[in-house]
Amino acid sequence: MIDRLVMATNNANKLREVREILYPLGIEVVSQQEAGVNVEPEENGVTFAENAIIKAQAVYNEVKVPVIADDSGLCVDALDGRPSVYSARYAPKGQECDKLLDEMKNVPDGLRGAYFECCIAFIDGENTDFMTGRCYGTISHNARGENGFGYDPVFERDGKTLAEMTSEEKNKISHRSEALKKLYEYLENRKGE
Ligand code: IMP
Repeated sequence: MIDRLVMATNNANKLREVREILYPLGIEVVSQQEAGVNVEPEENGVTFAENAIIKAQAVYNEVKVPVIADDSGLCVDALDGRPSVYSARYAPKGQECDKLLDEMKNVPDGLRGAYFECCIAFIDGENTDFMTGRCYGTISHNARGENGFGYDPVFERDGKTLAEMTSEEKNKISHRSEALKKLYEYLENRKGE
């Protein structure tokens, strides 16, 4: 039975979100730091799943108890899927939206499709499984909104950018929420084991 998970992150926001979601299952989620692990593997995968498993495996090797890790990013149709796994490294922090709008300045409406993807890897020594969520939308023509982070101000869905949504509204449609819902179902199904 799984009653404790190590999350391969020290990001407090990610931890809080996962803890809240898994709370009803009675699963305790601890950070890698709390588990006494100090590893930072090179995220050199070419897919979100590869990077997620690189992070999960590195922590699993140290703790030998069930581990989850996530990786996410933005894929833009008109840029052949870029920045993808390079989303965090695409531009200096705070400049990613401006750079993306500049690259997209000649792309007409109708060709501005994009999606966010989040992949969560689970590993427990016997099983390796992946839960993926996607959020489809379009790249706006200018940045709008004050909420969220990263590319939220330029990612539009139903007439609003993600940065114009409350976190409650964003959570209903986000790639991360979808992947986390799948993780919840996966762990719920394995509870009886
Ligand atoms: P990581 O999964 O924490 O490595 O995040 C990868 C990068 O993808 C972040 O630094 C953001 O630039 C981008 N990203 C991932 N999810 C979101 C989101 O929900 N909104 C905006 N940007 C995101």
